[in-house]
Amino acid sequence: MEWTPDPRELADLELLLSGAFEPLTGFLGHDDLHTVHERGTLADGTPWPAPVTLHLGAAVEPGAEVTLLDPEGLPLAAMTVAAHEPDGLTSGPLKALSAPEHGPFGRLRRTPAQVKQELAGRPALAVTMRGPLDDLGEIVATAKELDGTILLLPLSYGEAGPAVVRAALRAREQLPAGTLVVPVPLAPRDEPELDLELRELVATAYGATEHLAGPDPVHIPGPPHRRGLVVFFTGLSGSGKSTIARGLRDALLELGTRTVTYLDGDVVRHLLSKGLTFSKQDRDLNIRRIGFVAAETARHGGLAICAPIAPYAATREEVREMVESVGADFLLVHVATPLEECERRDRKGLYAKARAGLIPEFTGISDPYEEPDDADLVIDTTHISIEAAVSRVLDTLRSGGWIR
Ligand code: ADX
Repeated sequence: MEWTPDPRELADLELLLSGAFEPLTGFLGHDDLHTVHERGTLADGTPWPAPVTLHLGAAVEPGAEVTLLDPEGLPLAAMTVAAHEPDGLTSGPLKALSAPEHGPFGRLRRTPAQVKQELAGRPALAVTMRGPLDDLGEIVATAKELDGTILLLPLSYGEAGPAVVRAALRAREQLPAGTLVVPVPLAPRDEPELDLELRELVATAYGATEHLAGPDPVHIPGPPHRRGLVVFFTGLSGSGKSTIARGLRDALLELGTRTVTYLDGDVVRHLLSKGLTFSKQDRDLNIRRIGFVAAETARHGGLAICAPIAPYAATREEVREMVESVGADFLLVHVATPLEECERRDRKGLYAKARAGLIPEFTGISDPYEEPDDADLVIDTTHISIEAAVSRVLDTLRSGGWIR
């Protein structure tokens, strides 16, 4: 079978295959993972600090061959399954199939063997970096003491990857000639101490005789009016979501300080989600698609307004995570007009049809709506005008600094 690992797993796969994780040659199985957690060694006693795991979302039998693909379908490795746990944890020997496609600064990548060859047995001071270096003096002094080459290893995993490599290239300009820069796609581990130990091991694999960990990146987010923002309305059909969302869009366009992408539920279902039904599965897919587009908009500092019913809390949470993972902000607005009022208005006549059994799985009637408990703003339109509702959203955007 074929399987596409997630981005972290793909990064680990590359390090396993390149030898950067030596002596590890494959993902950890149940026993190794257990002893790594318990005492920081593999089951056979070899020191190993942190989990390196693969979770497969389908059942496989030991002995089966799984082709691991990158997101574009390139086969990266073949794995012969040795063990597969009920939670998906899968281990087994790996065989490289094709070299991974590298993104920005791909030309700077080197395998540990290539770097060691370049070092030609000389001592080396490796500096692993997740952000800009603040003390080049210490690095120069340590390298001098060692009489060795400086090896900058920007840990180029994730959104911030290219920025870290740029920081390394900038630092190199002020460091002694011969300083090497080699990006390493090492994803951070949850526990800082284990992360540090793993960085040390990887540095050693690249031929380092000594390792310094660069400072943790200081994350200074831009001001809110420059940051991406997703305003996500959720609520029953007929609650007033679309009307408020449209009013918000128009008010923002009149202000003219932000670009706006508008993703209304009914509008999205004409093209982006055309053909999807109202089953739970299709509703979730619909919301994920909306979230994907909204996050892409917000990634570049845009403002996206979404207004689907989005009845499931877990799916709304997924969208929040998608948006926050690109460094943008997410605002959940619950348009909490009660069902009785939505049904009394019944502007599209859908509630009458749903009651008559003509529309199955109708939200609020014959399908669930999970009320948010994490809304940033709750608006019940029963007794307030659309203008007043739009004002409340605008006030929230103003007080949060998203508009000025
Ligand atoms: S969601 O559940 O996937 O978020 P979405 O916002 O795209 O729903 O679509 C909701 C709109 O589709 C409603 O405003 C209504 O006009 C229409 N609709 C048609 N069938 C249904 C249904 N079974 N449940 C809810 N809305 C429906």
